[in-house]
Amino acid sequence: GNLVRLKKTAVMVGMMGAGKTAVGTALARLLGVPFLDSDEEIVRAADRSIAEIFERDGEPFFRARETEVIGRLLKGPPAILSTGGGAFLSETNRKLIADHGVAVWLKADLDLLWQRVRHKTTRPLLRTPNPRETLRGLYDARLPFYEQADIVVEGAAELSVEDMARRVLAA
Ligand code: S3P
Repeated sequence: GNLVRLKKTAVMVGMMGAGKTAVGTALARLLGVPFLDSDEEIVRAADRSIAEIFERDGEPFFRARETEVIGRLLKGPPAILSTGGGAFLSETNRKLIADHGVAVWLKADLDLLWQRVRHKTTRPLLRTPNPRETLRGLYDARLPFYEQADIVVEGAAELSVEDMARRVLAA
């Protein structure tokens, strides 16, 4: 069996491109628990993409759905829950996570994040004239929130997803 038994849901937080979904998936497999993804749940319920939700319903609508989904999923059995990069900015969400789970910040430097998101068009917040600068602005504004996570695991370009998952387990 597993050497580690998860007692609370581990919530992956951190910037877009940090690897929350990839590392979370690997971690769930290592632990033998379900992998959940708040973005995915929101998309499924709304039956449209994140970009479409931002465009047609607006970011406040998306954030409200995000809080509902996180609250609901945290009431279920222990799992790995990946969240969108903005989720941990909300005090309500941080409180939900503090009460029912454990927050894992996947930390990565700006260059690594940029390398991972630069060719993707799925992220509405980066649809700006200068997405690199936009990413930097979000990064700087969000660090103080991510620093409130319970566990911090630092990523690096040379680490595989599996390596990262093992690091989270060790932490
Ligand atoms: C967001 C990150 C996205 C998604 C939405 C908003 C953010 O998730 O929730 O586009 O505010 O950083 P990822 O972190 O998985 O890209």
